[in-house]
Amino acid sequence: MLFEQIRSGGCLSYLIGCDKRCAAILVDPHLDQIDRYLALTSDRGMRVHYVVETHTHADHFSAARELGQRLDARVVMHRLSAAPFASVRVDDGESLLVGNLRVRVLHTPGHTEDSMSLVCEDRVLTGDTLLIGGTGRTDLPTGDPDALYDSLFGKLLGLGDAMKVYPAHDYKDRQFTTIGDEKAANPRLQRTDRAEFVALMRGLDLKMPDHLTEALRTNRSGGKTVAQLIGEASKEISFMGLEEVRTRVEQGELLVLDVRETDAYAAGHIPKARHIPRGQLELRVDKVLPDPSARVVVYCQYGKISTLAAATLRTMGFTRAVALDGGYEAWRKAEFPTETAPAPAA
Ligand SMILES: [Fe+2]
Repeated sequence: MLFEQIRSGGCLSYLIGCDKRCAAILVDPHLDQIDRYLALTSDRGMRVHYVVETHTHADHFSAARELGQRLDARVVMHRLSAAPFASVRVDDGESLLVGNLRVRVLHTPGHTEDSMSLVCEDRVLTGDTLLIGGTGRTDLPTGDPDALYDSLFGKLLGLGDAMKVYPAHDYKDRQFTTIGDEKAANPRLQRTDRAEFVALMRGLDLKMPDHLTEALRTNRSGGKTVAQLIGEASKEISFMGLEEVRTRVEQGELLVLDVRETDAYAAGHIPKARHIPRGQLELRVDKVLPDPSARVVVYCQYGKISTLAAATLRTMGFTRAVALDGGYEAWRKAEFPTETAPAPAA
């Protein structure tokens, strides 16, 4: 059996494959590691048949939908998952066939209602149900401490002490644990009384994850993250650095377009920059930039929104639109000249 743990910060994903048949599953892939999964599966000579999500993640962006498309693989989630892009919905007691491997699904709700654990030979992927020295939290949408108690004490701990446990998160660089070790040392599992366990979980006062609403929006709907939109736009355009822009503006061979809001422009901008707030770009661009063959550099505050704006301009026929690498912030920090003149009426 091929078994690879892929770490992205504290998030863990897994590639599990059958060596004989070159068939694999990818579990809990992370959006910012897509190229790594593609490189890894190709390097290991594996064909990914299933991309499996142990649950709907609230703390990071899932790559399941995109990898399902890129790898021509089925996206597998529990039947209670809200995600419309899950193409195979599974439930407790069912198995996925991966070459000669059997991956058995245990429904282990509690952290979320759609949480499941995956048993494969001597190991179990526990998602966020059971962590090393901890458990998943139960205060996020569809969480339920009572259900978590049943999943832990009624299901996972019954897998036998020797069973290896591979969680979806670990922030201390540990790879795995065993059911036996967790039974002995996991502080939350020492609360074997249901009421005590539930009270402990309800009493945790945890900070909400960063990007909670964006993660739930994209992971539950299959929609795109802001970083994804900017990443896709950045592939459609090219960028120009500060020095290059300054020289070329001085030589008069480059138009500069500021796409920030009006007050930001008024407070300071690159000399002679024209101004169209991003929200009005499509409507006003023909007036402000009548020549679509002009060479134009677009900038915003940090170099993100200008990427989207430059890609939009290219779509509209401004084929020489580029974005300023680093945005106005980098320009200002480099102490390049700025001016505060109001925008010319367009
Ligand atoms: Fe989670």
